[in-house]
Order: sequence, then structure tokens, then C-alpha cells
Amino acid sequence: MSNTEEVFVGSIDQGTTSSRFLIFNKEGEPVAVHQEEFTQIYPNPGWHEHDPEEIVRSVENCIEGAIKIFEKDGHSKSSIKAIGITNQRETTVVWDVTTGQALHNAIVWTDTRTAAIARDLKAQPKSDQVLNICGEPISSYPSSTKLLWLLKNVEKVRQVYEAGNLAFGTIDTWLAYKLNGGSDKNVFVSDPTNASRTMFMDIRTLKYSDAMLDFLSYEFDLRKVHMPKIVKSADTKAYGELSSGPLKGFPIMGCLGDQSAALVGQKGFEAGSAKNTYGTGCFLLYNTGEKPVISTHGLLTTVAFDFGEKPVYALEGSIAVAGSGVKFLMNNLGFSHASHKITELAETVPDNGGLVFVTAFSGLFAPYWIDDAHGTMFGITHHTERGHIARATLEAVCFQTKAILDAMEKDSGHKLTELAVDGGMSNSGLCMQTQADLVGIPIVRPKMRETTALGAAIAAGFASGVWKNFEELKNVNTAGQTQFDSKIDVKARNKMFRKWEKAVQMCRGWLAEE
Ligand code: G3P
Repeated sequence: MSNTEEVFVGSIDQGTTSSRFLIFNKEGEPVAVHQEEFTQIYPNPGWHEHDPEEIVRSVENCIEGAIKIFEKDGHSKSSIKAIGITNQRETTVVWDVTTGQALHNAIVWTDTRTAAIARDLKAQPKSDQVLNICGEPISSYPSSTKLLWLLKNVEKVRQVYEAGNLAFGTIDTWLAYKLNGGSDKNVFVSDPTNASRTMFMDIRTLKYSDAMLDFLSYEFDLRKVHMPKIVKSADTKAYGELSSGPLKGFPIMGCLGDQSAALVGQKGFEAGSAKNTYGTGCFLLYNTGEKPVISTHGLLTTVAFDFGEKPVYALEGSIAVAGSGVKFLMNNLGFSHASHKITELAETVPDNGGLVFVTAFSGLFAPYWIDDAHGTMFGITHHTERGHIARATLEAVCFQTKAILDAMEKDSGHKLTELAVDGGMSNSGLCMQTQADLVGIPIVRPKMRETTALGAAIAAGFASGVWKNFEELKNVNTAGQTQFDSKIDVKARNKMFRKWEKAVQMCRGWLAEE
């Protein structure tokens, strides 16, 4: 039955391992979804790439797939008012502005090939000012180090740079550009939540920072590289419209990096709210309101969203390995073919049996920032079985979350009273119970966990007038939450955590002697 009064918003969710297109109704419920995985390229240890053209194709396929379902259910495309984009952040694409063709595979946010560049940068004069200007510590994580690597190591990239035709973009920029047809110079944009992950942007002004461009231009003049215009996260014009496919001519009106989108999707609009998303990595964002708080405890300052006059900021704790640790057990160690089976395996043992697994496959991010850390298991004995390894893999994320929450409390001066969660690993009751045990505050899991995609839909919905203010979203996604409360005491919690912290200190510098 067709329902012409209803309005809908589309959401492109371009993540690290898959792309999706979801269509939400005004109640924030997904009514159609299509998902496609794409190729993960690991050319060398620590390297991680994506084919930028494959990413665009996967998004186009997802739009087509979801629209088929939507129409089959009796809806009309014309009831879709706008489209939002949310995306894996930091992942870096370079292309030639004269052709619109990518010049190399995208270097993914997890990639650690730039650890040496990060070391060089740390040795540069004024490196101690970086965090205060752009909100990020120097590491292999932000896009800038990936761009520098491409300029240093890829002849073709250098030639196009020398000719003055090199374009840089994160995935939001690349998608908006390509989905608009791949040649429209006007749709070369990024939103502040994505731009705050590059190290190029001044976290206070939300404009490109001269100081950062000077600092990073020690070998190449980065002002010669075309960088996207930074525009608001909700905008009726800046992101253009789809140039082909079933939604040809439909406007893109919202854009948020995926972790900011999840905060928005969890309705973390007020200062003091927080969410933790257990995706490929795991990212805890704490809304600090209209003022950026610069961390002194290993966290990042990021833009939560920029919908109106004043941007809203967040403190972020980034964990590089979460779901990818579970995938590692499945794909590399052959533990199982389904992620929920890893939880079942972990449940076959009553505890970790003394095993601690520091899953530092991409170095260790917040709050530690150890670029040369490597994945290491401690405490293996004849007693150790696969169940313990599965359990220790889930626990690694929970330990890092605890370390991040402790750091956040010190930076913000506030203690969180509960933590909203989402993302694939939050489906694991065992993992969420462990999380509650380790942080000692309630963990609250919504029933509808497509919060990242919902966040992008909200951004586009604000611009297009589907929703007018935060108040209108009050009842979205509130039913059916599950709460996990700690079942262990402080003494037991501290004992577990001390072991983890010791393991973290022991996983440093494994390759230093090579
Ligand atoms: O910073 C990287 C982040 O945006 C990736 O998110 O969901 O793919 O773990 P996810």
C-alpha cells in the first residue's frame, strides 16, 4: 500500500568493511537497507588499502538495492526528501583534478605505514603545538601523514602534485564528488567532523590552519594540493545531488564522519552525553558543548556536529581494533565463520584464564598512542584454550574503553553516569556485561542500533526540514533499550585492569631491533 504522506531520508553509510544505504522514516526507523562488503587490501604487514572506485560502486549498488526494497514495499521515491552521507574517517584518497581519477588506492585509517613520518613530524620544531591547534596528537592515524606518504613514495602522485593538479580528500569528499558525476569542481567539500581528522584544520575556527600547513609542509608545499572547502554538516546546496542511478537528481544535504554521526544518532546533543561505538574500531565520543577541550590525557578533540551557528565539540577516545579483532579470529585463525560464534566460544570459559590480548594490530591508539606497539598475548599456559583467546579479544576493547573513560573524566572534570553503546560488537551480551563490569557505570544499548546511519539521516533531515530541532527527535529510538550493570566490585575491577596496563607497557617496540 503506498503511503504518500510519509516522508523519508536516505543515508549512505560508508564504513571500513562495508557500504550500506538505509532509508529512515520520520520516526527514525529504517524501512529499507542494502549492504555490500568490499575488498580489504593488505599489501604489506601494517598496510591497509581500499580501491576508491570500488567504494563508489558499492555505494551505488547499495542505493539501487535499498530502493528496490523500498518500492517493493509500496513506497514512492518522491517521498525521500534528502540524502545524508556518513563515512569512515581519515581514510585518504588522492586524485587528478583534470581527470577525476584516483591516483592510488585509498590509505585506510588503520594503516601504520606512516609511523616513520609521524616520528619525523614529532622531531620537527613546534611539534608540541600541534595538539592545541588541530586537536589531534601526531600519529599514523590522521589523513595528513597518509597524504605525505603518498607524495613521498608514489611517483604518479608527485607528478600530478608538481603539475598543480593533485586533489586530496577523505571519503566524504570523494563520495560527494564522485556521486555528483566526478567533475563538478563546485562539489569538492568536506564537513568539519571529517576535516577535524586530517590535522589540516584549526579546531577552533574550522578553517584550514596556516600553522598546520606550514608545519606539515617540511618536504612538500601542501598549499599546492587542492583541498576541499569545509562546509556545514547540514547544508541544502553544498553537497550537490546524485548524478545517476535510481535517485538521480536527489539532493545530498548532510554529512558527518561516522563517529560523530553515531553520537547524533544516539541523540547526544547535550554537553555531557557520550556514546561508544564498537565497529571495526571502537570510538568513545563525549559531547563537551560549544568549546573545544584540549586533552592532557591522550584523547582527541573533534567536531561532534556543525548544524547551525555554533559547532559542537567532543572529546574522543579512539581504539583501532574492535570488530576487526573478532574478524582476525575468524579470517586469520579460522575460529569460526560468524561473529556471534566468537561470543559463544568466549562463553565456554568462565573467565580469561589469565590471558591478556593486547590487540595492537595498528599500534595502540587512545589514550596510549604507542605507534610501535604490536599485537601481543600474555599469560599463555597449557590451560589456555580458544575460548580464552576469544574472551581476551573481546576484553581488549573493554579495557581500552575503561582507560579512555578514566582519561575523559580527568580531562572533563566530570564522571559519566551511563554510557550509550552501539555497533556490531555491542550485540554481544558478554562483551557489554564485561564493559559494565570494567567501567562500573550502566551500559545502555538501544534496540535499533543503526545509529551511525540515523545520524547522517538526521543531518540531512535538518537541512531539508524533515526535522526542525532536537526536541522533535525526543522520542526517536527510545523503546526497548537494554541496560547492563556491573556485577563485580572495585577490587576485582582494579585487579583486572592492572594486568591489562602491565601488558600494554610490555607490547612496545617489538620491531625496534630490526
Ligand atoms: O576513525 C575511523 C572510524 O571512522 C572508522 O569507523 O565504524 O569503520 O570502525 P568504523
